[in-house]
Amino acid sequence: MNKKYYITTPIYYPSGNWHLGHCYTTVSCDALARFKRLQGYDVYYLTGTDEHGQKIEERAKAKGMQPKEFVDSLVEDIKKLWELLDINYTKFIRTTDADHEKAVGKIFSKLYEKGDIYKSSYEGWYCTPCESYWTQSQLVDGKCPDCGRDVQITKEDSYFFRLSKYQDRLIGLLTKTDFLQPKSRVNEMVNNFLKPGLTDLSVSRTSFKWGVPVPFDPDHVIYVWIDALSNYITALGYTSENDEDFKTYWPADLHMMAKEIIRFHSIIWPAVLMALDVPLPKKVFGHGWLLFGGDKMSKSKGNVVDPFILVDRYGLDAVRYYLLSALPYGMDGTYTNETFINKINTDLCNTLGNLVSRTIAMTEQYFDSVIPAPVKKTEQDDFIVQAIKDIYGKVNQMVEDLEINKAVEEIIKLTEYANKYIDETAPWKLAKEPENKDRLSTVMYNLCECIRTTAVVLQPFLTRTPEKIFEQLGITKDNLKAFESAGTFPEDLIGSNVHKTEILFPRLNLQKELDELSKL
Ligand code: MSP
Repeated sequence: MNKKYYITTPIYYPSGNWHLGHCYTTVSCDALARFKRLQGYDVYYLTGTDEHGQKIEERAKAKGMQPKEFVDSLVEDIKKLWELLDINYTKFIRTTDADHEKAVGKIFSKLYEKGDIYKSSYEGWYCTPCESYWTQSQLVDGKCPDCGRDVQITKEDSYFFRLSKYQDRLIGLLTKTDFLQPKSRVNEMVNNFLKPGLTDLSVSRTSFKWGVPVPFDPDHVIYVWIDALSNYITALGYTSENDEDFKTYWPADLHMMAKEIIRFHSIIWPAVLMALDVPLPKKVFGHGWLLFGGDKMSKSKGNVVDPFILVDRYGLDAVRYYLLSALPYGMDGTYTNETFINKINTDLCNTLGNLVSRTIAMTEQYFDSVIPAPVKKTEQDDFIVQAIKDIYGKVNQMVEDLEINKAVEEIIKLTEYANKYIDETAPWKLAKEPENKDRLSTVMYNLCECIRTTAVVLQPFLTRTPEKIFEQLGITKDNLKAFESAGTFPEDLIGSNVHKTEILFPRLNLQKELDELSKL
């Protein structure tokens, strides 16, 4: 039996404004899922949409549409986006799926029967856009502390979840285990939310209808966050007769998201699972934000961040590469067209692309397109040979640590070293000296193995380029593409027929691209 790996993105609110920020999380999870698949794990990758709530109900109404009709078209769009980005998810869950709705009702009833949900009434300051109640002391200048908008005093009957009961276990979970990462987020959660004392959480609403009704009290709909968080188990069939996937894949190995929703995932979600007696996920990781010129995308600033435009113009792998390297561990990063273009030029065109095209061209020229066997090794090879041998281990460790940006940068670094190796060994000089043919063979073999290994380890991150590199190297056999083969200097590579194909990443003229992007 293969080891399993269950990874999830947040389920996104259908907003009609799918942008690079959403792509960040989904592409990162896709890379992690692919990585684990290539390691032989049985991977389940879940993503989807969070479609209930007052905001959606109101937006649909403003458009004269039924909520379901309104979300349907937005869901179509996000699915197209994931297809465009080669997102290889196992399941796309919608909170409007009938089986999800049914399961959420059952979860609510189960918590009620256990006494972890009880009915009471609620009075407080309510922020409609955030669908959250606040106490007077939580308000900032009389406004919602989360979004800064107006709040209204509201009273309603509500069901409450006994969050307070789980306070001590939650403190233990956050401070004594590696559940929440990066570690830097733990203090924030503990000091701001857990230490001041958890209050029970209102988990139903009567002020709108668009949601899952409380099964035994249908005037209430189940609060969006309970509905949304449950997706991680309902997707696997929790509470249904067909719960094979739940048995196989739960607990999740990783819930990935940006920092603003860590609180829900590291406090409310584990408490709900504790109440349900369901094992906890192994890890919750909150990455930073991709910022757009401060924080908002704006055409006037030339920050065109429509992923469809970028992929159309620069190719999928340029966009995936940019995203995967965009955020340092746990921190924010800023998107600008300029950093995007520069990154493609520097890393993909000048470094990776250049190495591949030089290696293939020289193999064609000096060895009649046939990869030679290494014959004469010298100290000059030591560094690059070691770097090729080490790359998989390094990348694997970085991926384990969720330092995805470092992992892709490490691969590019290897190609940088190889370009340096070309400059140092100067194959064009060796080629002029017949007595150095043996030396030239070794240099070319090492370079071919370097680009092969690069393609092998790039596979989870870039979905098109590795295959193009294999093709140029004349590699068709799967064993030469497998993770286990990275850096092994296999004999099978010798004798392969190389051939040049299209340029991997054409060089971009920065000014011209900035002008074009600002027009689009
Ligand atoms: N529906 C909730 C999540 C429920 S999960 C049980 C929600 N949806 S959302 O549409 O607002 O998506 C938020 C998530 O989208 C972030 O946590 C992050 O994963 C991703 N991102 C959206 N914009 C982003 C950036 N600008 N930068 C990085 N990630 C971004 O919250």
